[in-house]
Amino acid sequence: MGCGTGRLLPYLAGRGLSPRGVDLSPGMVEVARREHPGFGYEVADLRELPFRDASLAGVVCWYSLIFLAPDARLRAFAELARVVRPGGYLVAAFKHGDGTGHRNGPGSRVGSLGIDFDRYWLSAREMEDRFTAAGFALTFQGSTPPEEAEPPHGYMLVRKTGSANG
Ligand SMILES: C[S@@+](CC[C@H](N)C(=O)[O-])C[C@H]1O[C@@H](n2cnc3c(N)ncnc32)[C@H](O)[C@@H]1O
Repeated sequence: MGCGTGRLLPYLAGRGLSPRGVDLSPGMVEVARREHPGFGYEVADLRELPFRDASLAGVVCWYSLIFLAPDARLRAFAELARVVRPGGYLVAAFKHGDGTGHRNGPGSRVGSLGIDFDRYWLSAREMEDRFTAAGFALTFQGSTPPEEAEPPHGYMLVRKTGSANG
């Protein structure tokens, strides 16, 4: 979700998965279709996904949740939880911070082929709390060491709670 140029889809397919890509930016989806053909792509908002309840084995949000303004997060995490089946996984990459916007300096507004986003460095505590509230349980979290002018990168793997058998 937030597949951008689709660069991760061949990687995921190479590991035996059947990935599809979703991105809010039509321009990004156009690039993805051209650069990584053979996969299904859709223009959609991860707050309103074109998938049935519990229809996906997993979701990858690789640096896409960092574009969610605080007032959009509740809905986004609930929507992600809606589409992942019980026992399924969600993996997210993000940048660590206090959850507020970074309009000046290294985290300023960024373009995504036609759409401009504000970026937010998210706290691992908020991420875990939001995932837990939405119905996921934490499986793994990690982060890179801080570097100059760059916040640490955070990684979180969560699993949808409930019975995998229904
Ligand atoms: C930093 S890029 C990462 C792209 C890709 N995941 C990767 O790792 O190469 C983040 C992408 O998320 C998309 N995005 C941001 N907010 C979104 C939303 N609400 N719904 C769907 N896509 C969104 C942007 O258009 C952008 O292509």
